[in-house]
Formats: sequence, structure tokens, C-alpha cells
Amino acid sequence: MITLAKPAEMRAWSRRQRAGRHRIGLVPTMGFLHEGHLRLVDRARERTEEVVVSIFVNPLQFGPGEDFASYPRDPARDHAALEARGTACLFAPDLSTMYGGTSPIRVEPGALADHLCGPHRPGHFAGVLTVVAKLLHIVEPDVAIFGRKDAQQAILIRRMVTELDFPTEIDVAPTVREADGLALSSRNTYLTPEERRIAPVLARGLEAAHAAFRGGTRDAAGLLDVARRTITAEPAVELEYVEAVDPHDLQTITHATPETIVAVAARLGRARLIDNIVVGEGTAGDPRVHSATASG
Ligand code: PAJ
Repeated sequence: MITLAKPAEMRAWSRRQRAGRHRIGLVPTMGFLHEGHLRLVDRARERTEEVVVSIFVNPLQFGPGEDFASYPRDPARDHAALEARGTACLFAPDLSTMYGGTSPIRVEPGALADHLCGPHRPGHFAGVLTVVAKLLHIVEPDVAIFGRKDAQQAILIRRMVTELDFPTEIDVAPTVREADGLALSSRNTYLTPEERRIAPVLARGLEAAHAAFRGGTRDAAGLLDVARRTITAEPAVELEYVEAVDPHDLQTITHATPETIVAVAARLGRARLIDNIVVGEGTAGDPRVHSATASG
């Protein structure tokens, strides 16, 4: 695996691969890699000849008072994991090469950021879209792969690529979960053992909504009520939102269809956790990992 830090070197490497008719798959990350990230790498390898993984903790997507400074980092472990998974190139730029100016140009996300996490994290999605736009221009991948765990992010990126005419295909992979249902996240490392025991209640709340949907409930208020009651039964969990939205425009809906997304965000100790399901599917089809170390 080759490691590159300079955008010009990264682009030159990509162009050489493409000149040799190799397709490139990009997996953008902020590092502290877990099995959820690594399954995206596997998927990229299945679809393309050369996989690039980027690791960059993007300050633009963190609000004041959020965890930019304390975001977990383990470059040596990430490097070994990527190498073992057959990554061709690690792109790990530093802060000053990505953002030279004091007031960077940003990609405006529009109304898709008016729901779910958007109102709770002002500026977050503009920061995500800006860095993803830069990465797509630097790496010039044929396919870029994202996780459904961050459903709003994936939908916004898809929309940006369509509306701003990027030539890259966006592929979205299912949420990888622990055996007890907790969605893998780099931020799970913030949980104390007691909080880690409680954390799967988010997935259980979503599953309760899925069960109610299967049982015939179609009004969103009823589905959300079931999820909310399950989650708030744990007093340590501070629910930020649980919402039912349309998968295309993320507008809140009142009548659920199988494609409706039910999404949740909550604070548990130091961690802000998010999760979501497609209400007609639930979590049953999501890949699970079984090792206690896989959560990072
Ligand atoms: P990060 O949180 O490191 O996640 C990188 C990618 O891994 C994202 O596409 C995310 O959706 C995916 N991912 C995380 N946990 C997952 C899980 N349990 N199952 C499946 N996929 C999972 O998301 C970001 O970084 C950043 O916002 C980024 C897109 C890199 C821009 O800075």
C-alpha cells in the first residue's frame, strides 16, 4: 500500500491507474477504522481494481464544542488494517494542504439539511459536502462508497454529485452492527462499559418501529411513539430526535411506506450516537460482527 499526503501526488497516482484502464474506488473516512469502514473497502475491491481510502478528520464538519480535538486517532492501527484488507493507496492529507485559507468556500447543502441532524449540527453538512467534493476532485474515483449508517450524509452526497455533475458513481453500503445491534462507530469508543451496555437501545427502538410497521401501523406518529418509548426507557439516553422521513427529500412524513427512513440521534454520556432503518426492512439484513474489539 502506498501512502500519499499531497493532493497533486494523489491525483497523478489516480491518473496513472486510470491510464492503465484500472477503475478506482474511493472510501472517504475520518480514520479510527472499524469493521464498518473495512466492509466499505471490501465492497470497493469487489467493484474496482484499485481502492483508495482517505483518512482526514475534517474540521469543517465539527461545530464549536464538538469533538474535533478529541476525535479518536490511531494511524498505525488504521494503516495495518487497510494494508491487510488490500487497499492500494492511503490518502492522508494534513490540515494545511486541505484548507489553506481562513474562510474556505463551502458547498451549501440546501433543504436536505433542514431535517434530522441538520438543525442539531449547524454547518455540519456544508462541511461534509465541501470535503467530499474536494476528495472527489483530488482522487477522481469511478465509484465512491459510503455507509447507510449516516443516511442523511449519503443522501446529501448523492444529491450533490447529481446536481453539481460530478462524474463519480455513489454507492451506499448497509450498516454494520455489533452482535447486539449497536451500529459500529468510531465514537463508540467514548462509551463507558455501562453506557456500552445501554447503547443497543437505539437499534431496539428502531426495531420496535419496524415491528409496529409489520404489524400494520402506518401513521408515523404511532411508529415514532413506539420507538421513543423503547429508547427513553433508558434514563441515561438523552434523545435528540426520532423522525420518520421520505428517503428522497428527507421531508418528515405522516404516512409510512416500506421505504420510509426512521432515524434517531441521542446522547449517551460523552457520545452522540445516530442510527436509522428503512422501516420495511429493519436491521435483520444488516451485517453483524461478533468480536468485542471490532467496534474500535
Ligand atoms: P466516518 O465517520 O469515518 O465514516 C466513513 C464512512 O464509513 C462513511 O461513509 C460512514 O457512513 C461509513 N460508516 C461508519 N460506520 C459505519 C457502519 N457501522 N456501517 C457501515 N458504514 C459505516 O462519515 C464520515 O467519516 C465523514 O463525514 C466523511 C464522509 C469521511 C467526510 O469527512
